[in-house]
Amino acid sequence: MSLQLTGVGYRYAGATAAALLDIDLLLGPGEVVGVAGASESGKTTLCLVAAGLAPRTVGGQIRGTILLDGEDVDAWPMHRLSARIGIGFQNPATQLSQVAGTVFEEVAFGPMNLGVPRNEVVSHTWAALETLRIENLAERDPFRLSGGQQQLVAMAGLLAMRPEHLVLDEPTAQLDPEGTRLVGDAIARLAAEGASILITEQKTDLLAAIAARVIVLDGGRIARAGTADDVLADPGLAELGVAPPAMHRLRRAAADAGVAPGTLGSLDG
Ligand SMILES: Nc1ncnc2c1ncn2[C@@H]1O[C@H](COP(=O)(O)OP(=O)(O)OP(=O)(O)O)[C@@H](O)[C@H]1O
Ligand SMILES: [Mg+2]
Repeated sequence: MSLQLTGVGYRYAGATAAALLDIDLLLGPGEVVGVAGASESGKTTLCLVAAGLAPRTVGGQIRGTILLDGEDVDAWPMHRLSARIGIGFQNPATQLSQVAGTVFEEVAFGPMNLGVPRNEVVSHTWAALETLRIENLAERDPFRLSGGQQQLVAMAGLLAMRPEHLVLDEPTAQLDPEGTRLVGDAIARLAAEGASILITEQKTDLLAAIAARVIVLDGGRIARAGTADDVLADPGLAELGVAPPAMHRLRRAAADAGVAPGTLGSLDG
């Protein structure tokens, strides 16, 4: 399972400037790659482009190539693409099918559309609800939930499809620490099963926990790329509009205060 972007640039219809420029990115099987960056840096646009929605359904102009497991997806019809790559939108309400009357039906909608056999649809749906601890919401109306609950339902819908490739745009933005941890665990488990996953996040602590590599976008370009450890410890992160993980903030505060390295114990690990 791999997703590869080479020399990708993208401009929205009617825009004078490109929203993405010179994006080279390779996600191998089982790899979680994190995307950080200030507001308007291009995170959502990268998700739309990587999942094949831009320009296909959004319009605009693209350059470069996108390969899914080595195949150029340019000419693929949308239904073929969406069977292979899932996308979670920044606003979970956008994700809802509009046709499901209950959370259970909502989560089952994706695998059902993919033609998964009925008994598996049911078992995958319950498994996804249980993973995110929202079985208790199964009979509820998806439109009468809090933003955080909708975000978990949208994520469950993606998990139930068992995607080989997944693009997630700030999937924990509306979640409390417990919900964030559950989503993080679910992403890590999906990756352990071989999926390649691209995830944008403001929560760099979450990226530190689940991403092997991280890129930072700035004005639509990749400003930093490397292992999560290296990129998230970069002293220039704040200037790029990205809050460093708590671990790195503490380490730097200790260094500024003249605390000798090593005295912070496991924090130095
Ligand atoms: N539909 C659109 N048409 C024209 N320009 C757009 C459109 N959507 C986004 N842009 C522009 O593309 C650039 C990147 O926006 P994008 O939404 O990808 O950033 P982002 O990093 O996801 O921001 P945020 O953190 O606020 O979600 C911005 O300059 C934005 O104004
Ligand atoms: Mg965005």
